[in-house]
Amino acid sequence: MPEAEPPGSKVFMKVAIYPGSFDPIHNGHLDVIERAAKLWDKIIVAVAYNEAKTGLFTPDERVDLIQKATSHIGSIEVTSFEGLLVDFVEEKKAHVVVRGLRAISDFEYEFQMALMNRSLDEDLETVFLMPSQENIYLSSRIVKEVARLDGDIDKFVPPMVKAALAEKL
Ligand code: PNS
Repeated sequence: MPEAEPPGSKVFMKVAIYPGSFDPIHNGHLDVIERAAKLWDKIIVAVAYNEAKTGLFTPDERVDLIQKATSHIGSIEVTSFEGLLVDFVEEKKAHVVVRGLRAISDFEYEFQMALMNRSLDEDLETVFLMPSQENIYLSSRIVKEVARLDGDIDKFVPPMVKAALAEKL
C-alpha cells in the first residue's frame, strides 16, 4: 500500500484558495493572483458572501468581474462561498489559503484571521504574498471612493472593472 503523502509534499501544495470580498477586484488583488498562480497548480479565487455585509457589487457580479480580469491567467477557478472559510477550504480539499499583505496596518487583522482559521483547522496554512510596490496602497474601498468622486482609476483597476464601477456609480 502506498504511504500517505506527508504534509508539505507537492500534493499538499497543489491548490490554494484566495478568499476575499473583492468588491470589486483591483490591481493589487490581480498582482497577488498572478504571483500565486506561479506557486500553485491551481488557484481558487473565492468571493466571501455575507448577508449582513452587502457591498456595491453582488457576489455574482464580483465573480464575473474576477473571471474577466483573470482570463489571461491559466488554472484559475472563481467562485463564491457562504459561511466559514475553513469549511469551504475543506470542501475543496485544499490546505492553503493565500492572502495579500500590504503594510503593517494589515498585519493585526491578518494575524488574527490566520490564527483563528488554524485553530478551527490545524491542517490549514495561511501564506502571505506581497503585491508590488505600485499596488501596495490599493484597497477596494479607496478605489470606490476615488471612482465615486470622478477621479482617474485607470492605474488601479482593469478596464472592465472601471466600466462596471462607472455603471454602478
Ligand atoms: O477581502 P477581505 O474583506 O479582507 O476578506 C476577508 C475574508 C472574506 C477572507 C474573511 O472575512 C473570511 O474568511 N470570511 C469568511 C467567514 C469566516 O470564515 N470568518 C472567520 C475567519 S477569521
